[in-house]
Amino acid sequence: VALLQMSKQLSGKRILVTAAGTREPIDPVRYIGNRSSGKMGYAIAQAAAERGAEVILVSGPSGLPTPPGVSVRRVETALQMRDAVLAEFDTVDAVIKAAAVADYRPELAADHKIKKDGETLTVSLIKNPDILLELGQKKKQQILVGFAAETQELLLHARDKLIKKNLDLIIANDVTLPGAGFNVDTNIVKLIDKSGHVEELPQLSKQQIATIVIDKICAMLTKST
Ligand code: CTP
Ligand code: CA
Repeated sequence: VALLQMSKQLSGKRILVTAAGTREPIDPVRYIGNRSSGKMGYAIAQAAAERGAEVILVSGPSGLPTPPGVSVRRVETALQMRDAVLAEFDTVDAVIKAAAVADYRPELAADHKIKKDGETLTVSLIKNPDILLELGQKKKQQILVGFAAETQELLLHARDKLIKKNLDLIIANDVTLPGAGFNVDTNIVKLIDKSGHVEELPQLSKQQIATIVIDKICAMLTKST
């Protein structure tokens, strides 16, 4: 009985996870994208579902299978991801934003395929809304967890994002390390909580990291109720 309670400790909780990268159209056949595979976010969604949570996964394009028991909302662009996330935000207990959201999108997507007429081509980009920043400003009781993908000054930049976006936890990710970051099965991360406490994890599988992150969220959710 104790084991069963342990394993279903998130039953009755609604958890929103975002995963994979967004794609920002240039014309009907081209887009600006990034190297995110969705592996980290899908692993987190799965770990939350295994603990009995009702999980909503807002996913950019990804070839990964939907984890059992998870409801997926598929999106392509950052603006679509924002709409899908805001539609659920009021009714969830925690949000984990593992998605790699494009910071900019083409200001105008061409209606027709752009022809290779000129020797150079300039695409003007405009900033996308920062979804996590918006959630941080709106949040009430929700636990907010973000990622920080960095190539330098990892802790400094991650702490800045934790504070600026009003997060409860940030998963800091040096994407230059071998065995970490985009499109690999392992990751090397540091977890920083609101009080500034840093936990450095060794290289682990994304499933193992997902379990650790979900355990932390469990602890935060049980403390706040
Ligand atoms: N994020 C978001 N909306 C955006 C950009 C980022 O919700 N438009 C979220 C990501 O899902 C991630 C966190 O913010 O959880 C940090 O993303 P990251 O790219 O590391 O940081 P940025 O705030 O975008 O800053 P920069 O890219 O300049 O380092
Ligand atoms: Ca960014």
